[in-house]
Amino acid sequence: MSLQEFVTALDDLADDAKRAFDAASDPETLEEARVRFLGAKKGLLKTVQKRIGSVGKENMPTAGQRLNQVKSLIEETFQSTKDRLIDGGESDSDPTFDPTLPGAAPEIGHVHPITQTVSHLMEIMGRMGFEAAEGPEVEDPHHNFVALNIPEDHPARDPLDNFYLAVGENQSDRNVEGSRLLRSQTSTVQIRVMENSPPPIRVISLGRVYRPDAPDATHFPMFHQMEGLMVDKHVTMANLKTVLRIFATNYLGDDVEIRFRPSFFPFTEPSVEVDFLWDGTWVEFGGAGMVDPDVFRAVGYDPEEVSGFAFGLGVERLCMRRHGITDIRDLYSGDLRFLRQF
Ligand code: DAH
Repeated sequence: MSLQEFVTALDDLADDAKRAFDAASDPETLEEARVRFLGAKKGLLKTVQKRIGSVGKENMPTAGQRLNQVKSLIEETFQSTKDRLIDGGESDSDPTFDPTLPGAAPEIGHVHPITQTVSHLMEIMGRMGFEAAEGPEVEDPHHNFVALNIPEDHPARDPLDNFYLAVGENQSDRNVEGSRLLRSQTSTVQIRVMENSPPPIRVISLGRVYRPDAPDATHFPMFHQMEGLMVDKHVTMANLKTVLRIFATNYLGDDVEIRFRPSFFPFTEPSVEVDFLWDGTWVEFGGAGMVDPDVFRAVGYDPEEVSGFAFGLGVERLCMRRHGITDIRDLYSGDLRFLRQF
């Protein structure tokens, strides 16, 4: 066999193999064709290879090179036919897919208006040096009432006005030692902060509180409060009013005015209701006052040494006022048509 004949035999084999692979319409037929051409013992390529000695010693290197080229070519043809058969032949050439177009943006939702309000209030108070503090939503009567100077027989502790929980063996829905309740006010955090750190103190606490109120336009059994507490030497009512006025003008607008009305809370003396004048009307936003000496004693502070103010404002009320929301239930209905506006 001359070199020329050897080369022609190889080229014919490559053509035959390509034709056989192209004709295969399923993986089994393709595999049969592969064995026929590339099979290690009896494959047709092997048969041609066995005759390489007949081209003559001087032609061996050229013949060998050609043999390897044809072998690679047949293997590549086999592999691409196999890929096409396996993925249905539609891999790179789907005319309905344009990879240069921008993808569809996934809808990931956004921050709830009350969460937005909480962040905003924290930022305003943060600029006045108030740090955020947190406390548990499941509280004991000591932090929710006793340390806040709310005695056992006080109407605020009535089971009808609180969500008492059943704890362990004490299946209590009553106002007893060892019971637990969903906190009814964020004033609990004042106690927790003062129990754990000495004065001076300047904190706010923003979080959920719970009261068994029937839902209507202005009531919901869960809502949020912003509690503030500042304790130091010589803190006065003037500091309280200034902080609240700066807060109100930052959150509601420069023309907001603030007014205190005398009131009563067991944990402050004196106590006031806090009203803001906004858009021509006075609206009550919460309570405040000077921390009662009994509260200081309950946490181990000396009321002769330090004084302080505290306040508690309704977060929903602030948010609703700012955004013109008229029904608190809208905030918690989960209606996307409402929520998407914020
Ligand atoms: N905890 C009171 C409430 O929920 C609000 C309040 C009043 C908080 C006076 C205070 C305060 O810190 O000093 O009605």
